[in-house]
Amino acid sequence: MQLLSSVVAATMGAALVAAAPASELKARSSCTFTSSSDAASGKADCSTITLSGIEVPAGETLDLTDLSDGTTVVFEGETTFGYKEWEGPLISMSGKDITIKQATGAKINCDGSRWWDGKGSNGGKTKPKFFKAHKLYNSVISGLQIYNTPVQGFSIQTDNLNITDVTIDNSDGTDEGHNTDAFDIGESTYITIDGATIYNQDDCLAINSGEHITFSNGYCDGGHGLSIGSVGGRDDNTVSDVTISGTKVVNSQNGVRIKTVYDKTGSVSGVTFSDITLSGITKYGLVVEQDYENGSPTGTPTNGITVKDITFEKVTGTVESDATNIYILCGSDSCSDWTWSGVSITGGETSSKCDNVPTGASCE
Ligand SMILES: *[C@@H]1O[C@H](CO)[C@@H](O)[C@H](O)[C@H]1NC(C)=O
Repeated sequence: MQLLSSVVAATMGAALVAAAPASELKARSSCTFTSSSDAASGKADCSTITLSGIEVPAGETLDLTDLSDGTTVVFEGETTFGYKEWEGPLISMSGKDITIKQATGAKINCDGSRWWDGKGSNGGKTKPKFFKAHKLYNSVISGLQIYNTPVQGFSIQTDNLNITDVTIDNSDGTDEGHNTDAFDIGESTYITIDGATIYNQDDCLAINSGEHITFSNGYCDGGHGLSIGSVGGRDDNTVSDVTISGTKVVNSQNGVRIKTVYDKTGSVSGVTFSDITLSGITKYGLVVEQDYENGSPTGTPTNGITVKDITFEKVTGTVESDATNIYILCGSDSCSDWTWSGVSITGGETSSKCDNVPTGASCE
């Protein structure tokens, strides 16, 4: 801000600047960019940035980091990305009080099937992550229509970010687009995601750490469901005050789950899953397990991560006949103070491997 004022002062005269409030100065600069390099070099001087039909070159990030406070970013037309094996991200944005939206009919077309090889982030081609939303404070992302991310979608590490009515449709090649998590949240506070529509092949939502997070009115199709975790073994191993509500999970491996890492410490508390409807679940309708190691369950739970003050309320629906309705594998005494009401998941098997199930909950 200071830099901008002094530049303007030098060109326009100090007296004029003194008379014009900063907001008026900013209101003058509405920018339309048709190339990502112009957007990256010109972004700081714009109050509104319209990204019009940008073709982001292969191996480059559409770099909208360090935006001026209060910038509005509008995607217009079709945004596309050149092909290269690299880690991405395809888009990165940071700043304060940023509004990100799209013009009617716009789409962000990652054309991820060019990278898809069924191996996701575990091998094969190196695939660029989609959207880095780190240090994007007090901001809103709304209405974006996103197609076929190469691998993970939104990586969220910030405070006070609302994401509303975003669609991520990765249905181009249903089995090939592995690890296309829609929203990965870590080290974040006050994140609200409402009205997301997701067709993907991994977690619809995964929260590794963070506080005051809500996910509501979502639709998750084809992926791994709504997940807290895996928690443990990172810099931040605390999840608290999370509400996931009013969401349908269909044709997915899991419905709702909490997974914590074997032999690590941390805490998951104040988590509510309510009004979740399941159908076509292939693995677990509801699962809590404390036995993760290197991304896979070991079958042996540990109790270094507490899973406390957890509510499962009106989690209902059906799983496939060879799936398991409910699976709870807690360490000794690490799961406590659960509220369990209106949980009714049917169609699959009853687990015989549940252990240390807290009072009130049931694998039946
Ligand atoms: C995000 O949504 C919450 C809850 O509706 C609201 O209190 C908050 O002001 C919103 N934040 C922004 C940056 O709009």
